[in-house]
Amino acid sequence: MIGVFDSGLGGLSVLAAIARALPRADLTYLADTAHVPYGDKPDGFIRGRVLAIGRHLAERGCTLLVVACNTATAHAVTALRHQHPGVAVVGVEPGVKPAAQTTRTGRIAVLATEATARSERLARLIGAHAANLDIRVVPCPGWATRVETLHLDGPEFAAEVRATLRPLLDHGVDRVVLGCTHYAFLASLMTPVVQGRAELIDVADAVARQVVRLRGHHGGRGALHLAATARPERLAAALPALGLQVLAARVVAVEQVGA
Ligand code: DGL
Repeated sequence: MIGVFDSGLGGLSVLAAIARALPRADLTYLADTAHVPYGDKPDGFIRGRVLAIGRHLAERGCTLLVVACNTATAHAVTALRHQHPGVAVVGVEPGVKPAAQTTRTGRIAVLATEATARSERLARLIGAHAANLDIRVVPCPGWATRVETLHLDGPEFAAEVRATLRPLLDHGVDRVVLGCTHYAFLASLMTPVVQGRAELIDVADAVARQVVRLRGHHGGRGALHLAATARPERLAAALPALGLQVLAARVVAVEQVGA
């Protein structure tokens, strides 16, 4: 069983890529909806939640854990690996490396939660792959919550997204890294703004490839268990609302958990 988790709905963008890559794998998705968003919480709180969820999923028999959250990865993937040395752990980090490899202008923006934006791990990632480039890290408070409430395209929010992106484009940014898994669900709002000037960089497919490398194509039933720490029925209802009917078709159970 592969366990995939996030603070809420964002990690579904990663789950969808894994499900596409491994149509027969049995998957558990856990959303920590009692504590979403993580992005405005203290580092120690985020670490505590990640370790509690990791323990829950490992006890449920998950042998591979995917931290489908940049914020959780930034603050807790190392602690999670220490806590479960026998479990393979795949984290999700902003696609700074693919952006650095493909930018023509040498100017890159990383959109992220406040907690990811201030993290040492992101600073190290930039230092390792883009030290000589012009990188703007842009915290986007409230954007993940926007996705959680499925209010994806109100005119005020669309204006906020435009107001965030336009100065970056005017500065010459040609790669916009989606450094929060929730932001994949805002791509349809961002694409018309950046069209012809910049590309959005999302790492969900790269994460799925890493999962395939670690796990191989072992068979399963293609079952999807959905779990949430609060209001699990909202998680199930969000799948069609987010255009993820293909995941909805795999759901075999929906439960509330006390992780
Ligand atoms: N989806 C998460 C991320 O990738 C966190 C969003 C949040 O809970 O603030 O960073």
